[in-house]
Amino acid sequence: MNEAIKLRRSVRTYLKKPLNKKEEEMLKNLLAETEIMKGPFGNHARFFYYSTNKAFDDEAKRIGTYGFVKNAPAFFGGVIKNTFEAIIDFGYLFEHIILELTKHELGTVWLGGTFSRSAFESEVGENEVIPAISPVGYPEEKLSLMEKAIRLTIKADRRKPIEELFFVNDFLHPIPENHRYMKYLELVHLAPSASNKQPWRVIVQDNKLHFYLERTPNYAQLVPFVMQALDIGIGIYHFEAGLIEDKKNYMITNLFMPNIENKEYIISFILE
Ligand SMILES: Cc1cc2nc3c(=O)[nH]c(=O)nc-3n(C[C@H](O)[C@H](O)[C@H](O)COP(=O)(O)O)c2cc1C
Repeated sequence: MNEAIKLRRSVRTYLKKPLNKKEEEMLKNLLAETEIMKGPFGNHARFFYYSTNKAFDDEAKRIGTYGFVKNAPAFFGGVIKNTFEAIIDFGYLFEHIILELTKHELGTVWLGGTFSRSAFESEVGENEVIPAISPVGYPEEKLSLMEKAIRLTIKADRRKPIEELFFVNDFLHPIPENHRYMKYLELVHLAPSASNKQPWRVIVQDNKLHFYLERTPNYAQLVPFVMQALDIGIGIYHFEAGLIEDKKNYMITNLFMPNIENKEYIISFILE
């Protein structure tokens, strides 16, 4: 997975080419397998697949991604109950799908804001929400002008410096570069986040790592759930993927750490 984490980028421009049968099957199986998985808070999600049936951008218009996403042959999305913890789990589960597709060299992009939720209304039950969808297809290597403009506006290629994100013992002491867990935290650093806000914060205390969310004030208030909870789930998934690749023993658990100023405690990893 580490390789996929390093290769992934948001793809908003696709070749005008339907998915071949084999890849379509692979994706449907992947969605079904991910429905069996649980996020760190124990929630399941349901996923759906949607082919544009060669209508490409005509369908993109209906889904409301037109202008942001070009030539996508298909989309997938998911549904989960609308609680803060379930949205974190959705982030975790959906990123699993995104990274598996990256391994197959298929392009994707998390869409939490720039699509019309009503286009998929029939998928959603009571107290449920579609936190995100993604197009899926063969990436066009050359970025369109629109895509370049989007990346520039959200500073997609700029990550915050490590010392603003990861700390030792408290939020006053940034983590040294040669820290033994840096390798795993770097995978969190590479994670996608809504508008590239990077709201994950981590405190390392001996063999424990506490994950916090620093919410961006007034961010994404028009969506009916906490958008940045998705980012936290994604960060947790990336961190865990690094541990799994190195065959580390660990557990994910709530240690009830206090919130610190504007940082909201989420969950901890305990490493062996
Ligand atoms: C939860 C979430 C929601 C996102 N929503 C959108 C969106 O609505 N529209 C869009 O164009 N990009 C969206 N993105 C993509 C981010 O802008 C992108 O991940 C970020 O700028 C970093 O760029 P990268 O993915 O190429 O590393 C979203 C990403 C995440 C994680």
